[in-house]
Amino acid sequence: MRRTTTTISTETFELANFRWDNLGFDHVQTDYMYVMKCSNVGEFSEGELLPFGNIELSPSAGVLNYGQGLYEGLKAYRKEDGSILLFRPKENALRMRLGAERICMPSPTVEQFLKAVKHTVFANKRWVPPPGKGSLYIRPLLMGSGSVLGLAPAPEYTFLIYVSPVGNYFKEGLKSINLVVENEYHRAAPGGTGGVKCIGNYASVLKAQSKARANGYTDVLYLDSIHKRYLEEVSSCNVFVVKDRTISTPEIIGTILPGITRKSIIDVARKQGFQVKECRISVEEVFDADEVFCTGTAVVLSPVGSITYLGKRTSYNNNGIGVVSQQLYSFLTNLQKGVTEDTMGWTVPL
Ligand code: COI
Repeated sequence: MRRTTTTISTETFELANFRWDNLGFDHVQTDYMYVMKCSNVGEFSEGELLPFGNIELSPSAGVLNYGQGLYEGLKAYRKEDGSILLFRPKENALRMRLGAERICMPSPTVEQFLKAVKHTVFANKRWVPPPGKGSLYIRPLLMGSGSVLGLAPAPEYTFLIYVSPVGNYFKEGLKSINLVVENEYHRAAPGGTGGVKCIGNYASVLKAQSKARANGYTDVLYLDSIHKRYLEEVSSCNVFVVKDRTISTPEIIGTILPGITRKSIIDVARKQGFQVKECRISVEEVFDADEVFCTGTAVVLSPVGSITYLGKRTSYNNNGIGVVSQQLYSFLTNLQKGVTEDTMGWTVPL
């Protein structure tokens, strides 16, 4: 592949020869992936960087047959001076360990996870988009790669990281998205795996998501499966409701993914003087909200322009972004990109 060299500010850095404008959220193949194995549920051995490519799995691998797999998502940003920042990678390492425990997998130590992320980003650094063009999405996977036929934890595990430059997750970007409340399907149930990043949690929302998209909505807002009344989350992100100076988000009760962007927005909002509540939010409360927004690593922060529930549509902020959402978005993204000083201690230089 041809290479280009770009000078921004004081440093010169090499960029892949790629059209950086209009990045969306599609996989772009980069140079390297990181692979690390663990046999017989011992410890993970030393990992290695390999050229990005297909992997070999037995047809009887635990991940293929019984869904014994987890993933994470985090981002790297390029600063104006060309250097690279990771956003809260330790949080992902810890979350992967919790998820692995839930589905009986060994997981890399926090140190192994952080080292692997840094090595992978460094090896692919020419794929970190220039400032203002997007970020490098980092996708760690942990899977039961050993062979099983009867239902049991796999005898071998593979930890793998690949990366892709990305732009907006929703094509709307900072324009608002339109959600429909789902009544038939649920994302998670008490005692299930909704609170960890199991790969199966994502396949299970595809049906409702496809139905919503076919009806002209951007995505689905799920309710709890017991009362069919309390907000849980959107297919790929958490949800927040703003009323006056109070910001509410569903409490983490095992059916909701503990998003790292969710946690960061809660801290940022508190720091900015908002009252933040992690609580039950009934679907009726969204009719009365001033603003609604979603958060996630891929999504970052996305304003919600309308929510439709049982055929009734409630709109917010004339389908634009509300003042509070904009304020939180600007604070978070300026910090992530190294535009403002990181007063929260969340960014990690590569
Ligand atoms: C993320 O935001 O990193 C996620 O895991 C959501 C995914 C559907 C892209």
